Amino acid sequence: MWRRRPSGVGFWAAVLVAAAVLAAGTGAAAAAGAEEAYVTLLYGDEFVLGVRVLGKSIRDAGTRRDLVVLVSDGVSDYSRKLLEADGFIVKHITLLANPNQVRPTRFWGVYTKLKIFNMTNYKKVAYLDADTIVVKSIEDIFNCGKFCANLKHSERMNSGVMVVEPSETLFSNMMDKVNSLPSYTGGDQGFLNSYYADFANSRVYEPNKPVMPEPETQRLSTLYNADVGLYMLANKWMVDEKELRVIHYTLGPLKPWDWWTAWLVKPVAVWQDIRKNLEESLPGTGGGRNPHDQLVVKILFFLPFCMLLCGYYGSCFQTNKELLGIRSLCAFARQARQKYKSEEALPSYSTVGATSSSFGISNQKLYSGAHLKLPSYFGAITVLVCFISALISLAFAFIIIPRQVMPWTGLLLMYEWTFVTFFLLFGSYLRVVYTWGCSSANHVGYNNLDSSENHAGAGSQRNMSDCDTDAAFYWSGMAIIAIITLLSPTVLGITALFAKLGLMVAGGVVLASFMTYASEHLAISAFVKGQRDRNAPRGRSICFLC
Ligand SMILES: *[C@@H]1O[C@H](CO)[C@@H](O)[C@H](O)[C@H]1NC(C)=O
Repeated sequence: MWRRRPSGVGFWAAVLVAAAVLAAGTGAAAAAGAEEAYVTLLYGDEFVLGVRVLGKSIRDAGTRRDLVVLVSDGVSDYSRKLLEADGFIVKHITLLANPNQVRPTRFWGVYTKLKIFNMTNYKKVAYLDADTIVVKSIEDIFNCGKFCANLKHSERMNSGVMVVEPSETLFSNMMDKVNSLPSYTGGDQGFLNSYYADFANSRVYEPNKPVMPEPETQRLSTLYNADVGLYMLANKWMVDEKELRVIHYTLGPLKPWDWWTAWLVKPVAVWQDIRKNLEESLPGTGGGRNPHDQLVVKILFFLPFCMLLCGYYGSCFQTNKELLGIRSLCAFARQARQKYKSEEALPSYSTVGATSSSFGISNQKLYSGAHLKLPSYFGAITVLVCFISALISLAFAFIIIPRQVMPWTGLLLMYEWTFVTFFLLFGSYLRVVYTWGCSSANHVGYNNLDSSENHAGAGSQRNMSDCDTDAAFYWSGMAIIAIITLLSPTVLGITALFAKLGLMVAGGVVLASFMTYASEHLAISAFVKGQRDRNAPRGRSICFLC
């Protein structure tokens, strides 16, 4: 019996000791959590996704320290709630005015970054820009000196990743000098370079060799602030990739959250992988989505199909009459389908010349100007309209697509909308050309083509379908070349930026040549058709796309 008691006591003692150890452990951890923090800054809603991904990457790498985001007035309440739901401590700050008169406009509030030196409720903070991600734990960074950063271009310090020991005296000293010290960038980075003028001579921080006493300044190696610009130069990380800690997506307008960047900058894939796994902190925000963009994407995706359907039914129930671009697309698609069903020749340019010799001849005569009078500069105007339409379509598609959608979604919508807009614009031009053809026939007192009389009766239907195959060839040719141009670097696995751009430029040249050729042919066909229909009006629907 008595033997049991001590064992019971021993057991309880063990439990107590364990509990004490645990408590001490968590207490110490909590203390560390309260003493040190990761910090980032947010000026507006555009960078929210960046901050979310950064937070996720830090948490995935493993940490018990605080994640703090300093937000200014430009950040909406929704974004603040979202970041809080993500686990950030959100602190509101007022902007520090930029004392420099000459500065890039986007630098209006960047001196605010200096406020991290005033976060005196923490012993040490690791600051990371919103366009960085942590790919491997950087907990050891908190052991480096009182001020640590990374050197970049020409011995200058980069303020994208910094370790700071906040201090009221240091901060007020900085504030005293803000107006007198020069800033080569016109922002905080330039100022800090002037403030820590001797920074380039600091020792490199080595996590495994702590220096006592703690140095004033220390340099972080490139591993802690690896610039994608560096990657783009050599198409590989010029440091040991397995040891890489922080990737910094610096390239000016190529921010990782914009969908097109993933198609240009390979390391953005790492960023997108983390983004895909973002938790649904607030409804509809999983995977870095945002409810507003989701709705816009759905509308943008289905709208062209709806237009197509409406146009299709319109063309079924309303024969001839006024033709809208979209309606004739359907009519044209339907006719093409019927033609395939009746197993006629495949659409190709040579077929057109062979089966409809009369049309071919008239086309040739038309080129030599012997038979048909084309308006002066007709070809030049057509090509110009074609390229302006293409540019407008591209710009329009680019503007209406939300910037922060996933890369594939962006590409798909871009393609869909560029083509739809181009089809509507250039289709309208062809419609104008057709009317132009009608009026010019009237005006000139144009004689019917001798040859066209031959097939006026029996040949009209055939002529119609030939014209459709022609149009199908040109339109689908443009679409296919555009797809090949866009996707060829991805399909061929080319990641080097310059090789990629070169390939796309080459594709662009091919596309441009084909568009020149196709647009002229489409326009001339439309013009000829206008003249013919004027002279031999028939109650059939007009295909103005050819
Ligand atoms: C710096 O921090 C102190 C105390 O935390 C605060 O009272 C002061 O307003 C801060 N200064 C600036 C310019 O934000």
